[in-house]
Amino acid sequence: MSDLKVMFVCLGNICRSPLAHAIFEKRAEEAGLNILTESCGMGTWHLGDPADPRMRRTAQDHGVIIDHYSRRFEPSDLDEYDLIIPMDKSNLKDIRAYATSHHEEKIHLMREWDPQGGTDVPDPWYGGPEGFEAVYEIVDRSCRVLVDKLKERLG
Ligand code: 4NP
Repeated sequence: MSDLKVMFVCLGNICRSPLAHAIFEKRAEEAGLNILTESCGMGTWHLGDPADPRMRRTAQDHGVIIDHYSRRFEPSDLDEYDLIIPMDKSNLKDIRAYATSHHEEKIHLMREWDPQGGTDVPDPWYGGPEGFEAVYEIVDRSCRVLVDKLKERLG
């Protein structure tokens, strides 16, 4: 049994949320936390696909291995998970279409924990390699803060 279940959400589930999943899982484990971590996408184009090779390479350059295959968001995830973390406002809006008021307090944008502020983790899909590195930096520093907060809460 895990102490908490955390779900990261983006559009394709091949770039941002699998990265957040891998980074968070690694840091939570290093912090001695017992957290079940998963990720999913709101779109259906990439179901069953491994993460984008550009995202996997960037993560690997930082010592993080992504070994996730894209899976779709299920409305039941809203009950199943304790924390649901969309990467941008569009993902947030799409999740809210399935949520009831009692789900609201468990849904938080990734960058609520970014010590540098900001709202969206930008979608790197159409851009160059610098976009993937920028996503890594945002997600990494946000996950560090989130793990610290959960460590305080869960011991
Ligand atoms: P992600 O990036 O949401 O970070 O996984 C995307 C990947 C693919 C597409 C959109 C976003 N797409 O439109 O295929």
